[in-house]
Amino acid sequence: FYRAKSPSSIPRFLVCGPSNSGKTAIVTNFERQTSTAQTHTSIEPTTILAVLPPSTRSSSARYRSLNDPQAQALQPLLLVDTPGHAKLRRHAFTALENSTSPLSGIIFVVDAANLSSERRDDESISGLSDSASYLHDILLALQKTSATRKKPLKLLVAANKMDVFTALPVSMVKGVLEGEIARTRETRARGLATDGAEEETDILGEDLGVKFRFDVLEEFGVEVEVIGGNVEGDELETEKWWDWVARLL
Ligand code: GTP
Ligand code: MG
Repeated sequence: FYRAKSPSSIPRFLVCGPSNSGKTAIVTNFERQTSTAQTHTSIEPTTILAVLPPSTRSSSARYRSLNDPQAQALQPLLLVDTPGHAKLRRHAFTALENSTSPLSGIIFVVDAANLSSERRDDESISGLSDSASYLHDILLALQKTSATRKKPLKLLVAANKMDVFTALPVSMVKGVLEGEIARTRETRARGLATDGAEEETDILGEDLGVKFRFDVLEEFGVEVEVIGGNVEGDELETEKWWDWVARLL
């Protein structure tokens, strides 16, 4: 039924991001392609198999004739859902580093309705700082491994929960994350300087003099795109995420 492929050659995507942003909800939606089931906070990574919806054509199938049986075949993909809790984030870094086959892409999920720099009573860190510092660390890990990659790695920032009326519009999500990552980068650099361990390679973008924007990572073979959507609410919005995935298949 699936194209004859060994499991190791099925395209694999890492799904990471802060706790409660909706990673498991998105992965479940991708798996079932219906509205989501109840999720629980994740404590270990899980890999699920999904297929590209027939309405979304992968880039490799795009030029095939519709009568070509290969074009009708289901395109499988694997999604590695990781826990977002600060103490369990090593699972995501392990998945980044110990890849037997290179990842096809990374999906970093943020809650667009929880990107305020104000800390909520039940939180020890604001939603914005938490999301930005985790994303900073993922991007830095990718910067450090850039020499091992033959082609650019794509990272999707999935700005989830767009159905919530307090959600930031996607254009602002990009700006606030870039601004907060810039601040995180400066704080880290100051820490490194006082430790006497400052190294260019430990600084995201390697040059503090250049304003931080996601574009600066292109030099290190990392291409970031921010796209909004939601897997709950009256109208689910996942099409643009699927298009991003399909372009990498
Ligand atoms: P961890 O496993 O703890 O890292 O969290 P997670 O990122 O997997 O979050 P999960 O998928 O469990 O979702 C967290 C909460 O957000 C749940 O209560 C979901 O119902 C809710 N949620 C997820 N996606 C959406 C969405 O698009 N819109 C709304 N309104 N709620 C959502
Ligand atoms: Mg989860």
